[in-house]
Amino acid sequence: MCGIFGCYSKQPQNLIKQTLQGLKILEYRGYDSAGIAYRQQNQLKVIKAVGDISQLSHAVKTHPTTTICIGHTRWATNGAVKVENSHPHLSKDGTIAVVHNGIIENYNECCNKLKTLGIKLKTPVDTEVIPNILCYLCHNKHNIHDYLKGQYVFCAAEKHKDSLFLAKKGSLPLYIGRDNQQTIYITSDTLALPRTVNEIITMEDLDSCEITNTKIFFYNQGHPVIKTWQPFSQSYLPSNVNGFSTYMEKEINEIPDILKRITTSYQSVPEIINTKQELQQLIKKVKCIHLCACGTSYHAALILAYIIERDLHIRAIAHISSELTDHTLIHEPAIAIVISQSGETADTLAAMEILQKHEIPIISLCNVTTSTIAKRSQITFPLLCGPEIAVASTKVFCAAVLVGCFLFNHYDASTCNNFIKDATKTLKTARQHLPIPRDLPKQIFIIGKKINYFLALEAALKIKEVTYLHCEGYPANELKHGPLSMVDNATLAIVFGNDANNAIAEITARGGKVITLPSPPSDNPLLFINQIIPAQIFALDLALSLGYNPDKPRNLAKSVTVL
Ligand code: G6P
Repeated sequence: MCGIFGCYSKQPQNLIKQTLQGLKILEYRGYDSAGIAYRQQNQLKVIKAVGDISQLSHAVKTHPTTTICIGHTRWATNGAVKVENSHPHLSKDGTIAVVHNGIIENYNECCNKLKTLGIKLKTPVDTEVIPNILCYLCHNKHNIHDYLKGQYVFCAAEKHKDSLFLAKKGSLPLYIGRDNQQTIYITSDTLALPRTVNEIITMEDLDSCEITNTKIFFYNQGHPVIKTWQPFSQSYLPSNVNGFSTYMEKEINEIPDILKRITTSYQSVPEIINTKQELQQLIKKVKCIHLCACGTSYHAALILAYIIERDLHIRAIAHISSELTDHTLIHEPAIAIVISQSGETADTLAAMEILQKHEIPIISLCNVTTSTIAKRSQITFPLLCGPEIAVASTKVFCAAVLVGCFLFNHYDASTCNNFIKDATKTLKTARQHLPIPRDLPKQIFIIGKKINYFLALEAALKIKEVTYLHCEGYPANELKHGPLSMVDNATLAIVFGNDANNAIAEITARGGKVITLPSPPSDNPLLFINQIIPAQIFALDLALSLGYNPDKPRNLAKSVTVL
């Protein structure tokens, strides 16, 4: 994953502050460690720190004006979380600094080549090969793609030159923005661009470019190309927790408003109604619907597959994106539905490549409609949640299920309104129904049947993500076929639904504690969405009581752009 932010200005400015602000917004992409490099008196100054951007801000003691600053926030893949492994990485001679997102697959080959040039790398981080190969290429940097394999984007600053060099291979995002003052910004996500930016260029596969004080020179596969600036206006207002303890709490509390927004938009916005009709025409012709997603979005896919089979009587299969292979049988005629909050998840993009080989229409349910997944889909349905900052997805899960219900089911306004009222009530009463236990359980099982089982999987993922407790979602009747051996008096079981009495008896007979969350009186999937809210709040409260920051769980990142 990782986030890249950089600035280039003809006149010296406080670009360090600007870079730190940009990195703060990109922190969701990784927060193990961070660093910046800037040019001062023909020297490259590098400052790095372990931890999130606030740690880096402490380490940056002065803010001299400069014309170049590049920055990085890291989610470690190769190499432990240490200052020396964090970016920017310098070439052996110290003349080039690089910030990078992605993986260099021919790292060993590159190391061997560099060894023949007498260059021994200092860290196990694949990024370190890039500045050294750029040094070797000298004036032929635009040939870099011939030397590196994998998916990557990077930005390089040079000691002796007032310029920035950028390159991209694959689908990882990288944007260039500029404002009326002609300050140039480089970013992994347009969300981090300042409000003054009014034009952007999106870097494409195999692009490279050099930003100089006269011009930006673009290349693709080493050949010069011309790119045009596209108008841009920043719609994102850097948000704060708005009186809530954390973004996670704020986002859970936004659920009723989002449900209302979806309900209104999916019934009244002509563009959405038209694409919905387009989808319904496609559905009439298909025998199978393949759903693909990861993490929380996969759990939404499981629920949607269930309601498609139950209500539309069409075969529907939910795939974990990374488990889809070239051998997976795609029963045609078929369509694929991919679900993603970020729209940048590498595993889901890889699954889309497999599905594209079958030439079946790909429809996405996506919260970021400018994302790569959205761009590569035939139709995209927006999830309308606004930015989700907390790593553990809450509001977008509910949005994905509701949007799916609108697409594969018919709902009238009164059903929806009752459901939204129910969500508001559930938010208020969640802590009464599912209080955090006085004694910390050794493990938690969450069990349920059918849709309740899929909700159990999602609830267990939330608890695992933010509390680091062992927690498993299980089909209620399956418990006795294995996991019951683990149940003891330090076990807590949370039961979704009224139909798991046998499992409850089996757990209590072994000393386990049980909390039951009754099912709604109807099996309308809309009502089931609200069932997840108490579990989300339970995960949040438990994380806070254990002293963890639920917005930034250890080892995780919000946008997972590596395979
Ligand atoms: C990461 C996040 C999860 C998320 C999953 C899928 O693992 O930590 O919270 O559910 O990616 O992300 P997507 O953006 O594709 O929904």
